[in-house]
Amino acid sequence: MMRFDILSIFPEMFESFFGCSLLKKARDRGLIRIEAHNIRDGATDRHRMTDDYPYGGGAGMVMKVEPIARVLEAIDAVPGECLRVLLTPQGETFSQAIAGELAQSSRVVLICGHYEGVDERVRQNLVDREISIGDYVLTGGEAAAMVVVDAVARLIPGVLGNEESARHESFAKGLLESPQYTRPEEFRGWKVPDVLLSGHHREIEDWRRRESLKRTLERRPDLLATAALTEKDRTFLEDLKKEP
Ligand code: ADE
Repeated sequence: MMRFDILSIFPEMFESFFGCSLLKKARDRGLIRIEAHNIRDGATDRHRMTDDYPYGGGAGMVMKVEPIARVLEAIDAVPGECLRVLLTPQGETFSQAIAGELAQSSRVVLICGHYEGVDERVRQNLVDREISIGDYVLTGGEAAAMVVVDAVARLIPGVLGNEESARHESFAKGLLESPQYTRPEEFRGWKVPDVLLSGHHREIEDWRRRESLKRTLERRPDLLATAALTEKDRTFLEDLKKEP
């Protein structure tokens, strides 16, 4: 059982996202636990303020350190027993490799920043890692937390159905997927490639591998540097590159 705790000023945003599909199933089956906590519950002043004006002046508000510190304490998110992550555009860029690292932890705590920023003392004292989901700016870390939990949860054994995980294991690690088709064989004159209807499993596998390599070369040539390639794959790619 892996546990995720999310600290946000909008905890209700997570209800529908985590209440559907595979993640709901995984929760119902006790494979993962996801709890969203309101940062406002950690505020102690009369107005339960979670943000305040920046020292030194300037535009925008800054999220306060105390409410975040108190919620972390209330949920026993102690260093060493969990990995505390701040979602911020200043963090390291999220990747499949980082998802794999987080999946090694039994408890991940995600803190969603907002407004113009978060008091620097949160970074300095309350988090182990800062993650960005890409080079663009969101209104807050909530969508980023959903992305991270989704990508990590699907790596936990049992979360994906057998079929999907088996495919993930066996198929072209580190390459883009080959094209997929389902019924009908023909729609508006648009046909499914003959090889997929042929029933020749060996030929189908070869076709998929080649399509996968072709697509990766066209769209993400950077992935080829680290993909596990056979001699046959390399020869095929060299021939592709020679073609006009
Ligand atoms: N908060 C705002 N933008 C973000 C991003 N790109 N990644 C993570 N958290 C964010």
